[in-house]
Order: sequence, then C-alpha cells, then structure tokens
Amino acid sequence: MINEKLQNAFNDQINKELYSEYLYLAMKTYFLEQNLMGFVNWFDCQVQEEHAHALGMYDYLNERGGTIELMAIDKPVVEGKTPLEIFEQVLKHEEYVTSRINALYDVAEETRDRAAMKFLDWYLKEQVEEEASVGGVLATLKLIGDDKKALLLLDKDLATRTFVAPVIG
Ligand code: FEO
Repeated sequence: MINEKLQNAFNDQINKELYSEYLYLAMKTYFLEQNLMGFVNWFDCQVQEEHAHALGMYDYLNERGGTIELMAIDKPVVEGKTPLEIFEQVLKHEEYVTSRINALYDVAEETRDRAAMKFLDWYLKEQVEEEASVGGVLATLKLIGDDKKALLLLDKDLATRTFVAPVIG
C-alpha cells in the first residue's frame, strides 16, 4: 500500500503530464496553421510521449493499491508567436516538469518508499533526454534566425521523428 502523501503527489504529477500533453497539442495546432508539417510530426510524438508518461504513473499507482484521482486539466496557453519563442516555452516547461519530478522523488524519499524511488529513476532519466532534445531544436532555431529556407530544412528533419512507446519503470 502506498503512503497517502505520496499517492497525492503521484496524482498531481499525472495531472501535470496530461497538461503537458494538452500544451503540446495546442502547439501542434500552431504549426498546423503554419503548414510546417515536420514540426507538427514532432509535436505529435511529444503528445504521445506525455500521454505515455501520465499512463505510466496511472498504472503504477493502481499497481501499488493507491487511489487514482483525475483532476481538471488547465487550458493550455501557447505564449510564443514564432517557432523560436515556442521552443523557448517548451524548454521552460520541461525544466518545470523536471523540478516537479524531483519534488515527487523527494516525497518518495521522505516516505522511505524505495520502490517508488526506483520507479521514478526512469522519469528522471527521461527528463534529461527531453531537455537535451528540446535544447537541440532550440539551438538550431537560434542559428536559423530569419532564414526561411533553413527553417524548411529543419522542418524536413523533424518530420523523421517517430514515436516509440516507452517501456516505463
Ligand atoms: Fe512528461 Fe515532457 O515530460
């Protein structure tokens, strides 16, 4: 049986992952409107990843005998008006998610739940990869500046990303 405080922290993080899915769906919509289909594909993969992150915690909480509580998902706000600004927001968001996973890990540590800590190791590693991949696209967008041809080349590159269902835990 899982400690109630840890259970609540997991429920909170499930909501954050679902919000991430929602935010990236909103960003996908922006790129659909710009007809940048490689970026659309990139966000499509991102949406599916966030869904998998949420379900991974959902299944884990259930496996541990916890009570799952689904909460309202906030309306996503896309702050940026250019691909560069949007990726700046993505990086900021992923850094925030990393801080929340760390806070969840702290609760697992505080409640001396070693199994949960081990489970969360996967998420910590995933966040390192997420920040690196977003940081890579952001760095390229900074180099591109106002060069439309270079932006189309990046779009072509992002079209090659494929979603691979993660094996969590
Ligand atoms: Fe589920 Fe992008 O962190």
